[in-house]
Amino acid sequence: MLLPMTPLIIVNFKTYKEATGENAVRLAKQCEAAAKKAKGKVKVAVAVQATDISKVAVAVDAKAIEVFAQHIDTAEQGKFTGFVTAAAVKEAGAVGTLVNHAEHKLGNAEAIAKHITAAQEKKLNTVVCAANWQEATAVAATKPAPDYIAIEPPELIGGKVSVSSAKPEVVLYSVAAVKKANNAIKVLCGAGINSGQDVKKALELGTEGILVASSVVLAKEPEKALAGLISGAEKAYNS
Ligand code: G3P
Repeated sequence: MLLPMTPLIIVNFKTYKEATGENAVRLAKQCEAAAKKAKGKVKVAVAVQATDISKVAVAVDAKAIEVFAQHIDTAEQGKFTGFVTAAAVKEAGAVGTLVNHAEHKLGNAEAIAKHITAAQEKKLNTVVCAANWQEATAVAATKPAPDYIAIEPPELIGGKVSVSSAKPEVVLYSVAAVKKANNAIKVLCGAGINSGQDVKKALELGTEGILVASSVVLAKEPEKALAGLISGAEKAYNS
């Protein structure tokens, strides 16, 4: 089957205690170790809190692992207080940002477009999250277009049942709808991804990677947990 050369796994650190401050650095190093063993066959990124971008970015090898922001604001640089700008996360070492995550919704297409524009002005990759295939279809028509759209049904987030097994049709429709609207946009899926089998299934449904949080961040051995997900991606690629 036709699969992307390098599937992407994004580990979203969210605001978990286990992934904050020095714990974020430790966890990122564990993700880096798992990524290095994949020898470039799978791309790994970590989406960390704004306050941790800088320390994580200096601690990891940028060739092995990419650092993403979890969110940016669209405020410009200057007389604005309390915002996290695209320029600031870029300067801190991020190469991309999540946009419109289910836990940080922007509310409408106009706001999503503004966030993509702000990110692209600073050459940040954009991963725009969508709750279902209808939202994914709307995001695919956004100008400018994002680099990735990630399908994450909110009700499955943080659970033990993966989107790829519970809602394969949602993933399939989303991939078809996004590709029809704009073939250049890559599609990811996330929510409840717990095993290599979940990742393999996600790629077989036509996605080009996954977003994951709890099964890696809260694992007793995060490196091992991520390695398991990576091996699922490798299996999909080899089957
Ligand atoms: O951004 C990834 C996330 O929302 C999925 O979370 O804990 O279900 O892997 P989780």
